[in-house]
Amino acid sequence: MSGNSFGVIFRVTTFGESHGPALGCVVDGCPAGVAFSACDLRRELARRKPGGGGAATTRNEDDEAEILSGVFEGLTLGTPIAILIRNASARSADYDALKDVYRPGHADWCCEAKYGRRDHRGGGRTSARETVGRVAAGAVAKRLLAEHGIGVRAWCREIAGIAAPEEGEGDFDWDEAERNSLRVPSAKSASRIMRKIEELRAAGDSAGGVVSCRVAGLPAGLGEPVFEKLDALIAQACLSIGAAKGIEFGSGFALAEMLGSQSNDALVRADGSSPQNLLPPSVPHVSFATNNAGGVLGGISNGMPLEFRVAFKPVPSISKPQRTVARDGAEREISVKGRHDVCVCPRAVSVVEAMTALVLADALLRNRCSR
Ligand SMILES: Cc1cc2nc3c(=O)[nH]c(=O)nc-3n(C[C@H](O)[C@H](O)[C@H](O)COP(=O)(O)O)c2cc1C
Repeated sequence: MSGNSFGVIFRVTTFGESHGPALGCVVDGCPAGVAFSACDLRRELARRKPGGGGAATTRNEDDEAEILSGVFEGLTLGTPIAILIRNASARSADYDALKDVYRPGHADWCCEAKYGRRDHRGGGRTSARETVGRVAAGAVAKRLLAEHGIGVRAWCREIAGIAAPEEGEGDFDWDEAERNSLRVPSAKSASRIMRKIEELRAAGDSAGGVVSCRVAGLPAGLGEPVFEKLDALIAQACLSIGAAKGIEFGSGFALAEMLGSQSNDALVRADGSSPQNLLPPSVPHVSFATNNAGGVLGGISNGMPLEFRVAFKPVPSISKPQRTVARDGAEREISVKGRHDVCVCPRAVSVVEAMTALVLADALLRNRCSR
């Protein structure tokens, strides 16, 4: 199996299966001297952790992480940072009934078509449990970005067709997104969504949703203008998260219905306080009157906040009966039991942040040799 590593200079490898002894990551290429501690790690992992109620599964993992290397006296050493998270709450017996049958909406059949065999327990390597390694690596990337004044923040924009207000509308409140287990920045929307989730849980069904992400403090100049455009890298990173099915930047799909005169973001003179500290001395400071582009032009960050949204499909494991095929080729009906999320979005928030931070940490380091 290839494709378990990501990034060029700030390069991350994740390892482990859902029901194996442990999962984790190795972060290679993080510069020395970045402040990073077990506390930073714990905080990030706690935000991804299931067991918080709401839309999440009741699989109650401690997610106690161990930093095995690369950090000494609270600072990175510049050596590979290895982080291990042991699986403590895996109930493999829940999956016995799924050994010889392919779950709809999962990679079961595709994995067998590709490898001829699979670890059926919790989806093995294709399980969302793998994202614990991404979030651990993302915690390192976030610390590096924070030292450059860059902050990555994601939240649930919509769940089960119920949208939260945008910033500046209704009861939108940043702190609320960290208070409620749904990661929705509106108490009113969160309670409407919670009622819907309870209905869906009782009916044995699931829902999709949209996670929004905003990066503040991003300097102009990150990203490469041909194959490795910043938005293309973010798209790859986010679409590599299980159940992620779409992404749009800035005004996104709505741009297709605008005129050029409406969609272009006008350049305006800026006073130099904007986060464009990577500018060559000959280039004037500018800002943009609007942000339809979502902070990227021609694959290069333009100094505006990077803004995008990721659409997630409904959780595929549902207890409602569905049609499928067994390994012996017979058509069957399946009802997936076990502990599953009703909507992945609340837990995907920290994964979107982590993948974004990994792309940006790498782009930041790569940009040091742009001129
Ligand atoms: C944070 C997170 C949690 C998830 N939890 C579950 C779950 O409890 N049950 C489930 O069936 N799928 C869950 N998924 C989705 C599956 O991992 C995903 O749909 C599946 O691997 C098939 O991949 P695809 O949807 O990208 O094609 C979760 C995804 C994420 C990102």
